[in-house]
Amino acid sequence: MVDIVVLGATGYTGRLIAQYLALHPQRSSFTFGLAARSQSALEKVFKRLNLSKDDVPAFIMDVTNPSDVGAVVQQARVVINTIGPYWRWGTSVVRACVHHGKHYVDLTGEVHWIKDIIFELDYAAVKSGSIVVPCCGLDSVPSDIIAFVANKTLKSFGGPSTTIDLSTSAWKLGGASISGGTFSTILTALEDVPKHKLLAIRQNFVLSPVKGTHSPRPRMLYTLPYSDQPVYGAWYFMAITNSQVVQRSWGLYELARRLNHHNETAVAPLSYGPNFKYEEFVILPSAIYAMMYSIIFAALAALLVYFPPARMLARRIIPGPGEGPSEKQLRGGSIKITNITTSSPNSQGEKIVVRSIFRGQGDPGYFLSSIMISECALALVLDSATLPQISTRGGILTPMTAFGDVLIERLKTSGHIDIESELLVGAESRKTR
Ligand SMILES: NC(=O)c1ccc[n+]([C@@H]2O[C@H](COP(=O)([O-])OP(=O)(O)OC[C@H]3O[C@@H](n4cnc5c(N)ncnc54)[C@H](OP(=O)(O)O)[C@@H]3O)[C@@H](O)[C@H]2O)c1
Repeated sequence: MVDIVVLGATGYTGRLIAQYLALHPQRSSFTFGLAARSQSALEKVFKRLNLSKDDVPAFIMDVTNPSDVGAVVQQARVVINTIGPYWRWGTSVVRACVHHGKHYVDLTGEVHWIKDIIFELDYAAVKSGSIVVPCCGLDSVPSDIIAFVANKTLKSFGGPSTTIDLSTSAWKLGGASISGGTFSTILTALEDVPKHKLLAIRQNFVLSPVKGTHSPRPRMLYTLPYSDQPVYGAWYFMAITNSQVVQRSWGLYELARRLNHHNETAVAPLSYGPNFKYEEFVILPSAIYAMMYSIIFAALAALLVYFPPARMLARRIIPGPGEGPSEKQLRGGSIKITNITTSSPNSQGEKIVVRSIFRGQGDPGYFLSSIMISECALALVLDSATLPQISTRGGILTPMTAFGDVLIERLKTSGHIDIESELLVGAESRKTR
């Protein structure tokens, strides 16, 4: 029995996670094992990371064989699942975790799949006490954190009844790259997933248990208010998953607030409020650049969707399974997300505005994702007593509803991620985190 098992440990991201866990400063406080379908490929990972099987147990499992999956899941308290595309391979793993009351985290960004597992397994997960948290990587930890932190800062200045009107995140990605596994997941969505399921995820609140106020529609040009210099940008594809996850966090808090109205102090501080709207965009050098980006992005997406030879060509030039950014790219990348959140007006008609920043050093999609998901799993193993109240009931949750401040502190302690939030308008300005 181990605390954590990493499924897909021979894959590009699985190896990064194994390395991060092996070198973690709290290594003596937890145990972990590695699982893969190929014994020889797993041997290579042990050799490359200089791991011993006495210290790190090895498991062989093929995700297409449910008895393999059940046997491995039973050997761990928390499962980190990196076997994608999740639409194709993820459901049997979540089913096994829920069935055996184990906790689960993954790196999916596939909203159509998360919608299906919520429908099939959320109630069963609550019944078995299994905490299931999809989207524990770049989709959608930073977005979920930044809305959560902005809400806390607003309330710290405006009082507990302050609610959010609009929260806008501007993403600046330095040297972002793509792995073969991620690319295969995108192609699977285009080729295998029924079109009506892909169209459905463009609606607001697809993953939320309750409906709220619709967020602004995607557009060709975005600006960030309250910026010293003009900030322009365009809609980009990660905004779909991130907005749905943030709206699920909103919905889970909102549901908890409605169900716990007799215990307002426990849940109300987390509620974003009935007018909450969220949007995000990627920063580009100018307004013209942003509009050109939108047109080119739409044209490329249409090519990939409607013109199969374009997908064949893309397969030739993009990395294959198990491949991803080089060591230099992993260390050299960066991310900075600037979020401006405005409160709904108070009874005097005054608004409060806060600015929150999420900074990460290292390739955002892989280096930082492997840190984020590892710290999520470690929060389940080492910090179970301090997880948010909403988490302890189990179910299919989001990073912030499951881990809240525990994850924020863990990421900051990692030394690779920094998160801060400050007041801009409405009271005396000072940093809070
Ligand atoms: N959202 C984010 O921020 C984020 C970040 C990183 C990754 N991801 C996602 O994570 C997933 C993995 O990405 P990656 O680049 O690490 O992919 P990868 O390198 O291709 O690794 C996939 C892993 O899955 C294993 N696998 C495939 N089929 C299997 C089966 N039938 N039974 C058992 N294991 C099986 C592979 O084993 P073999 O080695 O034997 O082939 C490999 O270990 C993708 O869906 C990607 O989109 C998301």
